[in-house]
Amino acid sequence: MTTLQTSTPLRLHHLHLRSSAPQVLAAFYEDLFELRPATAPDGLLALAGGERAVVIHSGQAGEAGTLAMAAYAARSAEELAALRARLGDIVQDAGAAGEVFFRSGAFTVTDPQGRRLLFGVPRTRREPDSMAARLQHTVFQTTDLAAVVDFYVNRIGFTISDEVVADDGAVATCFLRSDDEHHSLAFFQGSNNVWDHHCYETTCWNDIRDWADRFARVRRGIFFGPGRHGPGNNLFFMVTDPDGNRVELSAELEQVGADKTPGVWPHEEYTLNSWGRGWIRT
Ligand SMILES: [Fe+2]
Repeated sequence: MTTLQTSTPLRLHHLHLRSSAPQVLAAFYEDLFELRPATAPDGLLALAGGERAVVIHSGQAGEAGTLAMAAYAARSAEELAALRARLGDIVQDAGAAGEVFFRSGAFTVTDPQGRRLLFGVPRTRREPDSMAARLQHTVFQTTDLAAVVDFYVNRIGFTISDEVVADDGAVATCFLRSDDEHHSLAFFQGSNNVWDHHCYETTCWNDIRDWADRFARVRRGIFFGPGRHGPGNNLFFMVTDPDGNRVELSAELEQVGADKTPGVWPHEEYTLNSWGRGWIRT
């Protein structure tokens, strides 16, 4: 079977956030993540810096904290064209909003529950950040895990790295990879279809310390972690941005070969945090 990992490796490149207070949200990412304003079409606010970037869509009051699109970068125009050809009739042109950070030719797909992924080739080569933390993965809660996993694996080409399985055999969480990193996308079975979090990958434990100190400066406290996830084996903590979006900082995320058999983990706190207290989605 053709997978992204073996044919068109993709990395999460930027996010399109909806916010009812774009300026407040932008100030947070400018201050804490060292992003700077970038050119964007009317109605959009774009920020970029090093290996992280966001596009903020101004939205109605109820739209704060929702994700309009998660944008994944291909390595070349040739690989993007091959992916577009393979995906066939589910591809939609991205338009101007999809080409803020991508070259023309970017396109979107929409999953069975309405989430949009944007695929493209970045306009510019990225420079390392002064404080390392590359945008790396995003996660959603879903009311129909089986349907979305079927779409992302069998239609798009993501590969299952690990699953969390309840005592009754029901899959509770699925971690999906699009290159050699353990997951660039994941889904938790939940009672609502909501955006769960996004994550930045640092280089070591001391980076985790430095990022926690940075959030401490503005008194934005940790709500989950520090700890180590079972699936992915990464060190982590989580904070929230001004819209309540959950933001994870991570280090030591596992690398996974293309032939790895998907792992199975028990649905318990120690899977989500091997150091103790977990955050069980319901
Ligand atoms: Fe995560």
